[in-house]
Amino acid sequence: MNKLIHGFSKLSSEEKIDLVTNRFFENPLKSKQVIDLYRLANKTKQQVHERFSENTISNFLLPFSVAPNFLINQKTYCLPMVTEESSVVAAAANAAKFWYSRGGFQTRVDKMVKKGQVHFFFSGDNKKLEHLFDTHKSHLIKSTKHITHNMDKRGGGIQSIKFINSTDLLSDYYQLDLEFITIDAMGANFINSCLEVIAQEWNSIYNNSDLFSTSDYFEVLMSILSNHNPDCRVYVKVECPVNSLGQNTTEAHNYARRFVLACKIASVSLSRAVTHNKGILNGIDAVLIATGNDFRAVEASIHSYASINGAYQSLSQASISKGIFRFEMTIPLSIGTIGGLTKLHPLVNWGHQLLQWPNAERLMEIIAAAGLAQNFSAINSLITSGIQSGHMKMHLQNILSHLKATDEQRLKATKYFKNRKISVKMVEDYLNHKTSP
Ligand code: MEV
Repeated sequence: MNKLIHGFSKLSSEEKIDLVTNRFFENPLKSKQVIDLYRLANKTKQQVHERFSENTISNFLLPFSVAPNFLINQKTYCLPMVTEESSVVAAAANAAKFWYSRGGFQTRVDKMVKKGQVHFFFSGDNKKLEHLFDTHKSHLIKSTKHITHNMDKRGGGIQSIKFINSTDLLSDYYQLDLEFITIDAMGANFINSCLEVIAQEWNSIYNNSDLFSTSDYFEVLMSILSNHNPDCRVYVKVECPVNSLGQNTTEAHNYARRFVLACKIASVSLSRAVTHNKGILNGIDAVLIATGNDFRAVEASIHSYASINGAYQSLSQASISKGIFRFEMTIPLSIGTIGGLTKLHPLVNWGHQLLQWPNAERLMEIIAAAGLAQNFSAINSLITSGIQSGHMKMHLQNILSHLKATDEQRLKATKYFKNRKISVKMVEDYLNHKTSP
C-alpha cells in the first residue's frame, strides 16, 4: 500500500504531475508526455483553466460542435454543442432542418422561480415556533439585504419565505422554504449565501426568544438550494399537418401513429421512459456544457420533474388532433447566462456570442428546443430504420481509429460501409482483407 499523500493540493501542477506519474505509471516519462500534450503552451491561459477546478494537471478535450438551422420562435440559431457521443449533433441538426420548413420550435418560459431551504429540527410547541417565524418573517428577509441589494434592483431577489412543518416526513423536521428570482444568473452562490444568513438569523431569533423552555429542542442542520425546480420551467413544441410527415397520406399517417405510440410507451414504461428522457438530455447537456452551465444540476432537476406525478414518465408527449401532429414538452431548466464560466472560458464565451448573447429566458428556450430536437430524431430513427444504422455509421470512425486505420483505409472503409451493416468484427475483417470487395 502506498503512503498517504499529504499536502498534495499545495504542490505546483508540475510537482503534482511528477508525483502522480512516478507513483502510478510504469513509464512515468511517457505518461507525463500525454499530460503535457493537452496542457496549454500559453502559461497565463493554462492558469485561467487551472482555476476552474482543483488539483488540475492538464485539460480534457471534448469535441466542440455546432448545429445550424434551429428556428426557435421565428429566430434562427446555430447551436454550440459539446458532446463525445457520435450522432448527437447530426441528430440535432437533422431535426432542426426538418422542422425549419414546418414552422420551427415554438417555446415559452412559464416561470423562473428557484428554491432553497433551511432544514432544521424542533421539538416543543410548534404553534409557538410558527408564531415566532411569522413575527420575524420580514426581518429574516431583510437580514440578507447586503447580499440581495443588486439582485433586488434588477427585479429579482427573495420572493417569499414559508415555514413548513415536515414532521409527517421525519420526526421533529421543519423547513424554511424560500423562493428566489435570480434573473440571468444561475444563482447557486446567491441562493446559498442568502440561505446561510437566514439560517444563522433564525438560529439566533430562536435562542433569544423566551417562548420556549429548556426541554424544547432546536437545531439548524443545513441550508442549501434545491435542484428540484418545477417552477423554473420552459415549454416547447413543434407541430405540422400530419400529411406533411410522409411521401403520401398513408405513409404520413402511419408515421405519426407510430410516433405517438412510441411516446405513449415512454409514459407508461419506466424502462423506456428513462432512455427516452436520456435522449432529450443528450441535446440539453451538450448545449449546457457549451454555454458553461451546470449539467448535473439540470439533469437532477429534470429527472425529479419526470417523476413529479409519482411515477417516472416521459417528459415529452406526441398527439394528433384535427389533422395536426404535435410534439411537445415542459421541462425545468435552471440555468444562467452571466457569472460562472460564461466570461472566463473562451469557448463558452464564444458559444454565447454564437447564440447572440441570450439572456437566461432565451437560453432556456434554446436549450429546450435542443432537447426536443434530439428526442424527435431518436424516436424518428427508432420507429423507422432503427437506431443502430445511424449510430454505427458515426461510430465507424471511432472503430477505425481504434483499429489504427490509415487515412487511405479510412476513406475506403467509409465508402465500403456506406450501405452495409457495421460491427467491429466486420470492420476488422475488411481492414484485414477478409471481406470480398
Ligand atoms: C442514445 O444516446 C439515446 C437514445 O437511446 C434515446 C432513445 O432511445 O430515445 C437513442
